Amino acid sequence: MNRTRTNNRFSRTSGGPAEAGGGGWHRGSSAARTGGGSRRTTAPRGEFALPETITSAIPAVEHFADLDMSTQLLAELSRQGVALPFPIQGATLPNSLAGRDILGRGRTGSGKTLAFGLALLSRLAEQRAEPRQPLGLILVPTRELAQQVTDALTPYARSVRLRLATVVGGVSIRRQAGALSGGAEIVVATPGRLKDLIDRGECRLDQVGIVVLDEADQMADMGFMPQVTALLDQVRPQGQRMLFSATLDRNVDLLVRRYLTDPVVHSVDPSAGAVTTMEHHVLHVQGADKHTTTTEIAARDGRVIMFLDTKHAVDRLTQDLLRSGVRAAALHGGKTQPQRTRTLEQFKTGHVTVLVATNVAARGIHVDNLDLVVNVDPPTDHKDYLHRGGRTARAGESGSVVTLVTPNQRRGMIRLMSDAGIRPRVTQVRSGEPELHRITGARTPSGIPVVVTAPVAERPQRGAASRGRRRAASANRRASAQQRPVEKAA
Ligand SMILES: Nc1ncnc2c1ncn2[C@@H]1O[C@H](COP(=O)(O)OP(=O)(O)OP(=O)(O)O)[C@@H](O)[C@H]1O
Ligand SMILES: [Mg+2]
Repeated sequence: MNRTRTNNRFSRTSGGPAEAGGGGWHRGSSAARTGGGSRRTTAPRGEFALPETITSAIPAVEHFADLDMSTQLLAELSRQGVALPFPIQGATLPNSLAGRDILGRGRTGSGKTLAFGLALLSRLAEQRAEPRQPLGLILVPTRELAQQVTDALTPYARSVRLRLATVVGGVSIRRQAGALSGGAEIVVATPGRLKDLIDRGECRLDQVGIVVLDEADQMADMGFMPQVTALLDQVRPQGQRMLFSATLDRNVDLLVRRYLTDPVVHSVDPSAGAVTTMEHHVLHVQGADKHTTTTEIAARDGRVIMFLDTKHAVDRLTQDLLRSGVRAAALHGGKTQPQRTRTLEQFKTGHVTVLVATNVAARGIHVDNLDLVVNVDPPTDHKDYLHRGGRTARAGESGSVVTLVTPNQRRGMIRLMSDAGIRPRVTQVRSGEPELHRITGARTPSGIPVVVTAPVAERPQRGAASRGRRRAASANRRASAQQRPVEKAA
């Protein structure tokens, strides 16, 4: 990486934008994007401003073996049964492996994690980090996503002897500090906890040569942006940066301007609903019938994520579902992290069949064999819609997104769908009707209350009599920590 980084993009001369092969820039109807020359144009309708690219992109590959990538990683891909690169991987990897900055937009479930992960791991392969001085950094917006990215990359990291540390809030900071002091080449983090560790002197970023922002448009939201820029200002100025999301929009402009140099842009998909294996349904319901309709959908044979707006609404629906005999669990920011982790795990293993969640579960989370997402409360904007819905129909699988709409919500929903570029099937439904069953698999719940039990190690302990159990529980935790040698953090 011997490029000279200048923060003044206007000083450069430019050819057209370099597009990673295999697709190309999605040109909207606006004339603003048709230039392709050096002049920057104003971004229309929330689109990101196309950055200047000086060097042409390396064309896409169709096989992993065509990439200049570590042989151990190639071997691990075939061990994992990952045969061919998905389009965003085939297009960005030739460039990211060559050290180029990347601005990548690919629909939900299109394989962005391996797109940035393989580049990061291959470029850092076999390197050794000094204690507390990681070499690569992946920033993500939620704790669950940090854990998932760590888990997804762990076998690949192991194959090239790289150590990952997960750094997220809500769990022991001491253990995370311990992982960093033991030496971790790559840190997967949410910004707040990483900042805390840096403030405590447990981590420094000046050796970080590669940074990834996953869900980059959300990382550029007002809530995250100050922390994110503060972190980016600490990494090596000449380093590589990769920004990925299914919905890159003008939120990322400032990050692109300030931190990317001569980036390769890969953006086949517009910032709209492009997953062709996804069915979109709007179900018109009467307000008085919505709760029964929701409960019948939840009682379907098969798993479902149900999104609601507030923690309170999530908790209330979860309690109602449990009382009706549906194995439901709640996920939101008001739960403790051990509860959140356990709930997601129970949903993934099928121990609970309904995950009732706020938007905390909307971005990036992958659950196998999930064919239905329900917006019990309609999302606020089209990006939320796309990310929530994107929990189904991933990696070529098919699935449906159902949004329950009461009469006073209809107008807003029409606008949202139009912003998302989606033409949903609209059906008037009532609880108990065959049409509702046909679309969602809805059934009448058993009515026999259920209790979802926590694993023994996590049940609350009471009084002195529990001391022995406490010891057993902590032994349990130690054992489970030992089963995950690469993942250093809690
Ligand atoms: N080349 C591939 N071949 C087969 N499966 C793949 C390939 N690449 C990724 N996958 C699988 O596709 C699924 C979705 O990948 P991933 O979570 O990276 O999607 P994403 O693009 O990050 O989606 P989102 O925008 O929702 O975060 C994962 O289960 C992953 O293992
Ligand atoms: Mg992702």
